Amino acid sequence: MVGEKGKMTNNDEENNDVNPKHIKVDTELDKSLRPRFISEFIGQEKIIENLLIFIKSARKRKEPLDHVIISGPPGLGKTCLAEIIANELGVGFRITSGPAIERAGDLAAILTNLENFDVLFVDEIHRLNRSVEEILYPAMEDYKLDIIIGKGPSAKSIRIDIAPFTIIGATTRIGLVAPPLRDRFGVNLRLDYYDKKSIVKIIRRSADIFDIKITEKGAEVIAGRSRGTPRIANRLLRRVRDYALMYNDSVIDDQIAEKALGKLDIDKLGLDVVDKKILNILVTKFEGGPVGVGTIAASIGEEVDTIEDVYEPYLIQLGFIKRTSKGRVATNLAFKYLGVKKENEPKLF
Ligand SMILES: Nc1ncnc2c1ncn2[C@@H]1O[C@H](COP(=O)(O)OP(=O)(O)OP(=O)(O)O)[C@@H](O)[C@H]1O
Ligand SMILES: [Mg+2]
Repeated sequence: MVGEKGKMTNNDEENNDVNPKHIKVDTELDKSLRPRFISEFIGQEKIIENLLIFIKSARKRKEPLDHVIISGPPGLGKTCLAEIIANELGVGFRITSGPAIERAGDLAAILTNLENFDVLFVDEIHRLNRSVEEILYPAMEDYKLDIIIGKGPSAKSIRIDIAPFTIIGATTRIGLVAPPLRDRFGVNLRLDYYDKKSIVKIIRRSADIFDIKITEKGAEVIAGRSRGTPRIANRLLRRVRDYALMYNDSVIDDQIAEKALGKLDIDKLGLDVVDKKILNILVTKFEGGPVGVGTIAASIGEEVDTIEDVYEPYLIQLGFIKRTSKGRVATNLAFKYLGVKKENEPKLF
């Protein structure tokens, strides 16, 4: 819900803290928290382990790293990881995004300006348009670019060489990346929600950078409500710090964290108003479902994309909803969470 001239309404500000959609734009302060090298990147151990091998091998072979696609919900570190890869390889890092490349010519301009072994980061790669994608295929496979010169019958296609490079694509919707494009990535990294231990570590690291004093228990309370998402953890840490400062407490402990987060209306699982609306619609209005995502979106006034990208993955991870071929279904856990008794429960006797 964006008010006039894109200003956030009060309502949005309240929801700001756990809604990754509204806090997608990192502030200057957030930038100071970005890990720059693998040693600073916390969690996702399996992915990091593999990545280190690929990076070392590419450096040894003196070849560009294979193309990499990174997928996962917002705020989990896709952009961070892409930059880290470039830093670890010691190569240039160029940034663009699917929607920013409108025409084939835009992409050609970017590709011909690359230097040897550069990393080209393409955010939201699922939003590349198809004609642009086709230019990308020979570039990814052979470092060649097909350019058409002239118009009409005299038009000629010429093939030029471009510098060997690595594309790192990021997407919240791997399912929307066209299969021929997806298949051209040699390395496929799927980021998943972080476990609580890793989020606690991220909070402690951020607290150090901001010079905030926090106890282990205080960090655990914030971590518990961060939806396994580093961006949210950092945001909540700052909100709790503000609260602590207001009450003249110099150390964030579990009690202060609980109080502050309670005031912010963030529930113990990190669910916000929209999550609760989704669950309520499913559980009370549709008796648990199945309900199509379009119907859910229309009922709560959100976009289908936002529900699928931002809300559903976490609710699925919690085991509250399931995706079925007939639509979304609320699980027993969701009924329990809302304190609603399931009607028409099959009677055993
Ligand atoms: N593994 C990590 N360790 C420490 N901090 C992290 C880690 N991953 C992410 N962060 C923090 O979370 C913030 C968000 O990460 P990032 O912007 O890379 O997410 P993203 O997956 O690209 O999100 P989006 O889909 O919205 O683009 C970063 O600025 C960084 O401070
Ligand atoms: Mg990003």
